[in-house]
Amino acid sequence: MDYSSMHCQHCIRIIALVSCLIAIVAGQYATAPGIEYHSKALERVFEARNLELGFPTPKERERVLRAGLYDPDSVVPIDVDVYYTHGDKTPSIFVTIPRFTKGVPYSLAYVTNEVRENGTELRAYPSYDWHQSHGADCNGLTSVYRTQIDECGRMWILDSGEIDFVQHCPPQLYALDLASGGVVHHYRLPQDVYKTGVSRFVTPTIEMDAKNCDVGHVYMADSIGDGIVVYDVAAQKSWRIENKYTYPHPDFGTFKIAGESFQLWDGSVAMSLTPHGLAGHLERMLYFHSLSSDWQMAIPLSVVNNGSIWKRNDVSAGLDQFILLGKRGSQCVAAAMSETGMLLCGLVQPPSILAWNIRQSYTPENMALLIEDEQRLQFVSGLKIVRNHEGKEEIWALSNRLQKAFGTGLNFKEVNYRIQKCGIYELLNGLPCH
Ligand SMILES: *[C@@H]1O[C@H](CO)[C@@H](O)[C@H](O)[C@H]1NC(C)=O
Ligand SMILES: *[C@@H]1O[C@H](CO)[C@@H](O)[C@H](O)[C@H]1NC(C)=O
Repeated sequence: MDYSSMHCQHCIRIIALVSCLIAIVAGQYATAPGIEYHSKALERVFEARNLELGFPTPKERERVLRAGLYDPDSVVPIDVDVYYTHGDKTPSIFVTIPRFTKGVPYSLAYVTNEVRENGTELRAYPSYDWHQSHGADCNGLTSVYRTQIDECGRMWILDSGEIDFVQHCPPQLYALDLASGGVVHHYRLPQDVYKTGVSRFVTPTIEMDAKNCDVGHVYMADSIGDGIVVYDVAAQKSWRIENKYTYPHPDFGTFKIAGESFQLWDGSVAMSLTPHGLAGHLERMLYFHSLSSDWQMAIPLSVVNNGSIWKRNDVSAGLDQFILLGKRGSQCVAAAMSETGMLLCGLVQPPSILAWNIRQSYTPENMALLIEDEQRLQFVSGLKIVRNHEGKEEIWALSNRLQKAFGTGLNFKEVNYRIQKCGIYELLNGLPCH
């Protein structure tokens, strides 16, 4: 698909998409004359030339610098997560920093109010101790790519167990209660659901029973092992889904962003669920895609959640249940679903937020580039839809210029890392984000 033809029709498509959405939500058609859809931007929340990491003491900072456990040039954020404590309009903002090298002192952090030379200071979460063993204590956190906060105020943390791409610990999943900081769940993945030395668990997606926070499933994307592991929280059992649809595609192994290109050969990276009780979608679905691919896939949740269907090394298990929804022409990194059934993702080319209304066919004319920003949306590896203190949905995006970090190198004189947000209603209706 050619996105250059999409640019000039940007307005028309957004209006069509938005009116359709309004029609569904409000039961009537509405047009929005006079709204300026172009040059809209997300609201800036956080910008940094480099991540500024805080330490328990200046002495500890010196120690890790000397020991080679902190290299300021190699701390690259991947994900953002946001939590509004009940009634409080200032949220807690969390950031993940996978240990791509040995020089990452901690892998999960929160944003403070302290502004320093390179940007706002981060501090370790849940505490510095959790990260301090650098892979020696597998009960601590070794390397976190992404997290997800559920509707019960708990943060699910997927730990890949690797440092510098070497497996130090088995992959594991933690759930922490954000109010108390206490561990509410811990699961170490058994060897029969991952590939030792190959698997890289990068994204958790949570499905919770509306009435019982301890019943549900966690879907874990294994981007290098090319599969999805399903974890039944109540039964504490897991199984692995792997077949041609969880793999990368040769046409999309090269990523071109803002004039630079690099190679990524990654399978399953992002998963999202259709909202509960969506009219016309009686069966809930899991949508997923591979990073190095442009295929958008779907599978009924009842099939994914039925452990008896999936067998280790059986690439034909459940195969006829997979649906290829369509191809989008470029890669998407992170994805998130709104309560109204809009699937959003961070599109690589052009750098933008892509939206698709899940009631329509997955074709270019039913997709819209809500925000296109080559400067400020270079590699959106973190994307979340969260509910704010008023119960309204917001999108939060983290971009990190990964093509430079993994390619020619970052220029620390310019802003490399950004966290931006917008109300979902404002974003979909072409209104200013702030
Ligand atoms: C700011 O970033 C640069 C580039 O990585 C680094 O050399 C410098 O030490 C950083 N400053 C602080 C205070 O972390
Ligand atoms: C799970 O799948 C098996 C095998 O296809 C089937 O016999 C069974 O009825 C399914 N269970 C549920 C709860 O759908």
